[in-house]
Amino acid sequence: MGSPLLAKKSLEAIAAEAYGETSGLRRVLGPWQLIFLGIGAIVGAGIFVITGHAAAQYAGPAVTLSFILAGLACAFAGLCYAEFAAMIPIAGSAYSYAYATLGEIFAWIIGWDLILEYSLGATTVAIGWSGYIVSFLKDLGINFPASLASSPFTFDPQTHSWRTTGAVINLPAFLIIILLTALLVRGIKESATVNAAIVILKISVILIFIGAGLFFIKPSLWKPFIPPNQGEFGFFGLSGILRGAGVMFFAYLGFDAVSTVAQEARNPQRDMPIGILGSLGICTLIYIAFSLVLTGVVHYSRLNVPAPVAVAIDEMKLFWLSPFIKIGAIVGLISVMIVQLMGQPRIFFSMARDGLLPAIAARVHPRFRTPYITTIVTGALIAIGASLLPIGIVGELVSIGTLMAFVIVCTAVLVLRYTHPEINRPFKTPGVPLVPVLGIISCLYLMSGLPRDTWMRLLGWMTLGLIIYFIYGIRKSRLR
Ligand code: ALA
Repeated sequence: MGSPLLAKKSLEAIAAEAYGETSGLRRVLGPWQLIFLGIGAIVGAGIFVITGHAAAQYAGPAVTLSFILAGLACAFAGLCYAEFAAMIPIAGSAYSYAYATLGEIFAWIIGWDLILEYSLGATTVAIGWSGYIVSFLKDLGINFPASLASSPFTFDPQTHSWRTTGAVINLPAFLIIILLTALLVRGIKESATVNAAIVILKISVILIFIGAGLFFIKPSLWKPFIPPNQGEFGFFGLSGILRGAGVMFFAYLGFDAVSTVAQEARNPQRDMPIGILGSLGICTLIYIAFSLVLTGVVHYSRLNVPAPVAVAIDEMKLFWLSPFIKIGAIVGLISVMIVQLMGQPRIFFSMARDGLLPAIAARVHPRFRTPYITTIVTGALIAIGASLLPIGIVGELVSIGTLMAFVIVCTAVLVLRYTHPEINRPFKTPGVPLVPVLGIISCLYLMSGLPRDTWMRLLGWMTLGLIIYFIYGIRKSRLR
């Protein structure tokens, strides 16, 4: 095992980073705050926007089954995350776990892969946010020009071809990322109280939507619940449910963000798993009810729009409800973007400290005490991406990239159980090896349903990452 590619960081070193009192962080978060934090990071563009795309393009009303399938995969992966989060409570999460267990090359792969989850995740949510803000402004009588609020390109999954849309730029998506980046450089500490208020707001509007919608459901819209396959894999039928699950997986992302505040949890050993699994469970129930109502009120074929909930509300003629839902989505998506925009620079920061990225990326602002270089660079790139790319493409890339990260985390749990059985594990994934193995299989299964184009983009991205590692990281690594 002498290969430099498999060099590992010792668990002691990682624990010292995690528990070292140099961090200056205070242990103040209890179990409910962690669950709220999870929900704050989870509920976003997935439910408010992408459900519509997945129902209209892939699964029809059976998008509800897609949610159940995706939720199951997340539960297995979540149990594995919980073991690591309780054992190595440190920011940088999956990247650090891989460094300790599988070796440097895997750490690099996962770090590079996490860019898809966090950076493209923020990109996707920004595009979704743009759809809701434009729709809200329209309600106020302000017509934001459509050519300035949409991607100039679109990709048709059925013909595998790119087309221009006639639009110039998605300006609202660009501006919100720039604004949030500026806030994060100043060191906005997303206080748990503000987050709790946002969570209560967004959960309330979703529950009101579900409650009101119950009175407008036309069961005929659910027939057939699984529309027949259109002749090609992934377009309705059973394969459509699978593809829908791969796509809707996006809606669950964020539960792992709970693991990044482990250093601020009062009792991480007990509360990390509660925070991760609790938020996941609550969101699954909400998503099932929400998707049933959405496809029971409007025919699924009409939901491929930037603000599908708005279509349902118009259908119900509950015009008074519209502004509340939109405000809930607009504010709610901001908290998701903050988590992702905060997570990405910190992963780069960890990678730079390990020598895998240039040292400048590990620079901390002398006054604001934030990793400002990485925050600004990632913010600028995300803003450009959000202004130009279509939501479907980026959302699917986020899903496939994160699924891959989960496969590695589940594998790492297994590996560590056999190589280091003696380590103190405050939370143990139950049913090892079954649960991690099911996690690996279910995540690979969801990945298998995603379009070939998405796979090719993932391969291209990972190849680029490996080239960079072999040109730069392998020579500069601090472990060397
Ligand atoms: N789960 C998050 C969302 O749906 C990423 O926006």
